[in-house]
Amino acid sequence: MQSVLNALSPSSHKQPQNSNSNNMPPVPKRGLAFDFSGRSIIVTGGNRGIGRAITEACACAGARVAIIYRASKDAADVAKQISKENGVEVKAYQCDVSDAELVQKLQAITRDGSVYTVNVLGVFNAAQAAARLWVDSKYDGGSTVIVSSMSSQIINQVAQGKPLTQVFYNSSKAAVSSLVKGLAAEWAQYNIRVNAVCPGYVNTDQTSGMEKSVRDHQAGGVPLGRFAQPHEMAPQTLLLLSEHASYMTGQEYFVDG
Ligand SMILES: NC(=O)c1ccc[n+]([C@@H]2O[C@H](COP(=O)([O-])OP(=O)(O)OC[C@H]3O[C@@H](n4cnc5c(N)ncnc54)[C@H](OP(=O)(O)O)[C@@H]3O)[C@@H](O)[C@H]2O)c1
Repeated sequence: MQSVLNALSPSSHKQPQNSNSNNMPPVPKRGLAFDFSGRSIIVTGGNRGIGRAITEACACAGARVAIIYRASKDAADVAKQISKENGVEVKAYQCDVSDAELVQKLQAITRDGSVYTVNVLGVFNAAQAAARLWVDSKYDGGSTVIVSSMSSQIINQVAQGKPLTQVFYNSSKAAVSSLVKGLAAEWAQYNIRVNAVCPGYVNTDQTSGMEKSVRDHQAGGVPLGRFAQPHEMAPQTLLLLSEHASYMTGQEYFVDG
């Protein structure tokens, strides 16, 4: 079994903004050279946004997929649809990956516990649960991919010289990227690999509410001049899940245009 642990963030349910969808590359339908037949993959947050694109790519590569979501009403329908389209089993399971006891401890040390609760502790909880399963069942070759962010390394801006005020989000991503390195080192003895995919700006619910001036400024700072579509995060994730990545662990892979 393999696991994608898609780092999570509190989110709204607004529709993704498609203002610059004209120049977007289409979702490739063929040529994905990964065969995950007979594999089971867990995609946390796999019902929408980047996670949904990863679910679709894993299912397209033949894996059975378990989606973990928090509250979305349509998660079961999303799973059913992806299952039907790809002829593999896809099921949605509701689970808040946060842990109440850890949350309390965390809230004592930060004003904004919720971001850390989901992005760091939630990711750790999910990664640990998968690792425990692999070790207990003597499964050899587990792979966990955590969705961190380019914000693990940068300070995002709303305009030239004006930082986006989200220190807890960015530092939560720095924390989870560090967690990747630590877990990779600690779990290498079990042949479990742990890596991070670090997206740049992606068109999802998370970014749909941004002001146009901020979007334009941010897109203008990207060499490719645009936000990504969620499916553009999937190939790097599948590579890290696959045997082709057998010597890759403890790294951050930036998919940031
Ligand atoms: N969008 C970007 O520009 C961007 C850039 C860099 C990094 N990222 C990172 O990529 C990841 C996915 O982002 P996204 O934009 O795709 O997000 P999104 O569209 O807002 O989706 C978030 C997903 O996480 C799930 N979730 C949230 N809290 C949870 C919890 N406590 N327990 C279980 N599931 C939970 C949600 O489930 P429900 O649907 O049930 O709420 C949903 O499936 C996040 O870690 C984000 O920080 C995003």
